[in-house]
Amino acid sequence: MNTGYSAIGRVAAIVAIVIATAWVLGVRAQGRIDPKRGEALANTWCINCHLISNDQTAPASADAPPFTTMATDDGYSDERLRAFLREPHGPMEGFNPDEKQINDLIAYIRTQAP
Ligand code: HEC
Repeated sequence: MNTGYSAIGRVAAIVAIVIATAWVLGVRAQGRIDPKRGEALANTWCINCHLISNDQTAPASADAPPFTTMATDDGYSDERLRAFLREPHGPMEGFNPDEKQINDLIAYIRTQAP
């Protein structure tokens, strides 16, 4: 009896399912907010000006608010931080964080609540 499905068709369907599953898992992994990645970014891109943690001994600019200050929601809402990071401030030149990196940075900043 002809089921209407060829062997090639079945293989193609299985391949399609595998690819779709890998894609969904990949997107999920990418979308997960990760403060550790935010910390790594801050160590590279922010530490020259901001105190990114209370343990920091390297000098920071007196004009740049410490991350512990931003960690409390008072005045520094996620929306404000996100809006600010979408428009990198002058000195951050060379770094245009994407939305994922912005989320990771904000997540890291939040771990610095005093
Ligand atoms: C070369 C110095 C420099 C670097 C690098 C830098 N900043 Fe800043 N940042 C400042 C200064 C100075 C201010 C305060 C003046 C201002 O708001 O522009 C500031 C302000 C901010 C603010 C406060 C915005 C607000 O709403 O008041 C945030 C958030 C911020 N920086 C995040 C970051 C993050 C995250 C990084 C790293 C990805 C970074 N900055 C890198 C100098 C820097």
